[in-house]
Amino acid sequence: MKLAVIGAGNIGGAIIRGYLAAGNAPDDIIVCGHHLRRLVRLQEELGVGLAETPADAAALADTVLVAVKPKDVAAVLGEIGAADCRPLIISVAAGKTLAELDAMLGGTEDKASGFRIIRAMPNTPAAVGAGMTAICRGQSATEQDAEMSLEVFKSVGRAVEVPESLMDAVTGLSGSGPAFVYMFIEALADGGVAVGLPRQKAVELAAQTVLGSARMVLETGDAPGELKDAVCSPGGTTITGVRELEASAFRSAAIEAVIAAAEKSASM
Ligand SMILES: NC(=O)c1ccc[n+]([C@@H]2O[C@H](COP(=O)([O-])OP(=O)(O)OC[C@H]3O[C@@H](n4cnc5c(N)ncnc54)[C@H](OP(=O)(O)O)[C@@H]3O)[C@@H](O)[C@H]2O)c1
Repeated sequence: MKLAVIGAGNIGGAIIRGYLAAGNAPDDIIVCGHHLRRLVRLQEELGVGLAETPADAAALADTVLVAVKPKDVAAVLGEIGAADCRPLIISVAAGKTLAELDAMLGGTEDKASGFRIIRAMPNTPAAVGAGMTAICRGQSATEQDAEMSLEVFKSVGRAVEVPESLMDAVTGLSGSGPAFVYMFIEALADGGVAVGLPRQKAVELAAQTVLGSARMVLETGDAPGELKDAVCSPGGTTITGVRELEASAFRSAAIEAVIAAAEKSASM
């Protein structure tokens, strides 16, 4: 499969590198961006192909990943929509619905554009290969299109499919979630510093604790509550800390943060 990536910034760049690391050939990737010098460096470093315009890239590809800022998506899709080719379109633009993407590709209320479209919401840990992406598919996109798109995002972490009606919920949880987790790591480290640890060591202890705990949840398949119970010995240190978190409404704060972020996403 030939994959064209329009926009080699944070997300586009991470996907290009992840897709190559997953064993795909550099020849199968075509990149289109704004700055020629940056693109040539990418070509020299990774061996990927280059295209001058989104329409040129789309003409060479089976799948086009549009990874430009939301404000630039209409221009890119307008150009692709006006071209003759009909590759699968994957958009990662936050908040742009399948209907809006179809309209940008030339669809009208009476007649769809004819493009197969996938909308995706990745998150920033994709930059280190540990992203979480949810995708949803447009009416014309097939099971195979969804599977292929999941494969692209699995090259930079995990990926799942949801109905479009759940994309605001995804935005509130895995889209905004990294910021909530960074705050938790920072707070754990502050606690460590408060009881005498040097800052750098405290941050390392906190971050690895979060990473290891997350892996326990994903790799054992056990419910987080069961894993928590398993480390709380009667009358011990951990249950003493858990009691303190409950007294500070820690879980309620996390729940409300996800709901607020999802509601904000829905209102935009
Ligand atoms: N970063 C995240 O965590 C995250 C999470 C979820 C979704 N997203 C979505 O991912 C998309 C990209 O975000 P990002 O953080 O990767 O942005 P970014 O780092 O700014 O990358 C966007 C890239 O697109 C290029 N570009 C702009 N217009 C173009 C055009 N007409 N043709 C070709 N390239 C063009 C930009 O080049 P110049 O900078 O030279 O203009 C830039 O390299 C956004 O729609 C965002 O909503 C991002």
